[in-house]
Amino acid sequence: MANRKHKGPGLALLCLLLILPAAAAVSQEDGLYVQYRQMLMRAQGANMGMIGAVLAGQLPYKSHIVAQANILKQNAGLIPDAFKKETTAGKTGALPEIWKNWKEFTAAALALEKESAKLAKVAQSGDPAAILAQTQKVGAACGGCHKPFRQAK
Ligand code: HEC
Repeated sequence: MANRKHKGPGLALLCLLLILPAAAAVSQEDGLYVQYRQMLMRAQGANMGMIGAVLAGQLPYKSHIVAQANILKQNAGLIPDAFKKETTAGKTGALPEIWKNWKEFTAAALALEKESAKLAKVAQSGDPAAILAQTQKVGAACGGCHKPFRQAK
């Protein structure tokens, strides 16, 4: 019995030494997942920003909106995968509701995909009022996910 007691802390220490590096590796990995999904979102932000700049400044890049809308659509299709890994480690605006209401979250991503696809079509028509109206719908689709699933700033 006395012998066993003596072994106790040694074993605990060994366990700790084995667990610590593993835990550190996991959190670093989580950090990379968080960074990845944030980069994806920033790309969405940049594309929306470019469309907004073309519309607001009447820049001679209206033809670019088709490409930007298609990129928004493609990136929207990556959102479910990019958030599949459940983690709110580190600096993140992601709310735990994402993984509690996963169906609603992926539906919000799909809604963005659809509105962006529509924008690509409307942009081909070149009708400025229609482009503006559809861009607002795309913006609403961003907000439709941010409101329930992203921390308010
Ligand atoms: C299906 C949900 C969803 C949709 C749709 C969505 N977002 Fe996000 N977005 C999020 C979540 C969740 C975060 C927080 C991610 C994090 O910090 O880990 C976020 C973060 C962001 C960020 C901050 C990124 C950073 O650097 O921290 C920007 C910018 C952004 N979104 C732009 C957009 C734009 C623009 C659209 C629409 C074109 C959009 N998002 C559509 C869920 C969504």
